[in-house]
Amino acid sequence: MRSQNISTKENSKLSSEIDKLRVPKHIAIIMDGNGRWAIKKGFPRTFGHNKGVSVLKEIIKVSKDIGCKTLTAYAFSTENWSRPAKEVDFLIDLFEKVINKEIEQIHKNLIRINFIGDLTPFPEGLKLIINSAESLTKNNKDFTLNICINYGGRQEIVKVAKKIALMYFAGEIKPDDINEQLFQSELLLKGSNDPELLIRTSGEKRISNFLLWQLAYSEIYVTDVMWPDFDKIEFFKAIIDYQSRDRRFGGI
Ligand code: IPE
Ligand code: IPE
Ligand code: MG
Repeated sequence: MRSQNISTKENSKLSSEIDKLRVPKHIAIIMDGNGRWAIKKGFPRTFGHNKGVSVLKEIIKVSKDIGCKTLTAYAFSTENWSRPAKEVDFLIDLFEKVINKEIEQIHKNLIRINFIGDLTPFPEGLKLIINSAESLTKNNKDFTLNICINYGGRQEIVKVAKKIALMYFAGEIKPDDINEQLFQSELLLKGSNDPELLIRTSGEKRISNFLLWQLAYSEIYVTDVMWPDFDKIEFFKAIIDYQSRDRRFGGI
């Protein structure tokens, strides 16, 4: 009870430090550290993935409450297929279960959900659920949640290059029409501004093939906290840190 009081206090203190007018509109998160968190507690890695889902739920809610409009979360990379089949299967199963369980609430909260990445290798069942979740929520305007699965930044860029080559061969564009705007318009996150803030948990100081194009000028916040331990307080700390940054974009 006492520790709950302390965290409630810290919570409202941090929340009052946030400048509501300068909350990032788009936040990207590399939710890392699930496995190590679980192992440290003497549980299988999958326990950490389960806990990670409830953390994501909380962070979606808090993001929306403070006025952020888009959250892009990295849930499965193109490199994550190299993990033991048992863990990959668990994750695929978890995606399916979580979408089924949460989609009604997501829709009720006027959240649009998109799944970003190459969905082809996933089982038909998951693809169907994703399809219906996306079409159910496609007109929701309060908040956009992008879940990146089988996502790789390099893969995304190569796909755009291929698409542009095909446009050229179809006579739709000339080489001089190829510019940043055209490239951007073919990326998977088209329509949303680039993330102002990237949060990575678990202390790793790398991007791990996430949003290579879109993160060009994002502020990067790394915390040692493992994703399953991340919460509202840690999230507020990231926002406050972001608000202390001097974003120069190459200027002076
Ligand atoms: C992030 O946690 C979730 C996924 C990549 C699916 P990890 O599973 O990478 O956990 P660690 O980094 O090994 O602790
Ligand atoms: C990045 O985490 C991918 C996701 C969080 C989905 P990883 O755990 O796969 O990254 P590395 O292997 O530490 O770079
Ligand atoms: Mg990891």
